[in-house]
Amino acid sequence: MSKKRVIHFTSLDSTNKYIKEHLYDLEPGTIVSTDYQTAGYGRLSRSWLDQKGTNLTFSVFLKETLTSHTSLISQLVAASLIKALEEFNIHCYIKWPNDILLHSKKVAGILVETVIVDKEIYLIIGIGLNVNTQALDPSIESKATSILLETNKEYDRDIILQAIMKHLDLFLSEFRKENYSFMNICRERNALLNQEVYINQYKTKAIVKDIDNNGHLVLKEDNTILRFSGSEVTLTNSYQALGDKEWLK
Ligand code: BTN
Repeated sequence: MSKKRVIHFTSLDSTNKYIKEHLYDLEPGTIVSTDYQTAGYGRLSRSWLDQKGTNLTFSVFLKETLTSHTSLISQLVAASLIKALEEFNIHCYIKWPNDILLHSKKVAGILVETVIVDKEIYLIIGIGLNVNTQALDPSIESKATSILLETNKEYDRDIILQAIMKHLDLFLSEFRKENYSFMNICRERNALLNQEVYINQYKTKAIVKDIDNNGHLVLKEDNTILRFSGSEVTLTNSYQALGDKEWLK
């Protein structure tokens, strides 16, 4: 990862927002990172809480040709995080569509935002990874964690960032050659596999069976196979206590 790719701020409201505000000034491949994000946000308009100087909080700006496979990018990012953390012997799972779990708790979140201009798509890939946080905000501590809390070790955030970017770059160059082998990692590390979930939008229960080549979650309801994209459904654990239900949303 070349240094000139990174624009770093000691503090910033949101790295995704910064890229969106500077979309036409930034070179594709630019990484915007901050030591402290004050108004970070995630999927479903949730806020992303940060702690000064302890986590990895960054966004990557890409410009790609729009194809029927572009929606796989968020899975590609999840697979890159899995491979990068594996280098540090940190064995994570993906809670479809794009949360990263360590010991069943959320350690990272991914938010991919897009702007389509003619046949091109501008991608803003936001990643929040809890690295050295010692204590999480009480509102999230039952379902979130940090690498330090799970491994009792402090990590160099820059070295982890380099590992993530190495795998992201590798998977992206394969993706541009229409090689989607990163989907195998998403399938192998599917935290929801064989779990019964409640599909909120359809008010029905089903068992998670797979993730298909379109990045859709494959579920079985009685003898019917259902497939949903990440933007179509939210899931709730259908049989566990409320605390765990929150975990699945
Ligand atoms: C989620 O869990 O819903 C996704 C969370 C994504 C958070 C990251 S932190 C860097 C980037 N900037 C933001 O405002 N959000 C993303």
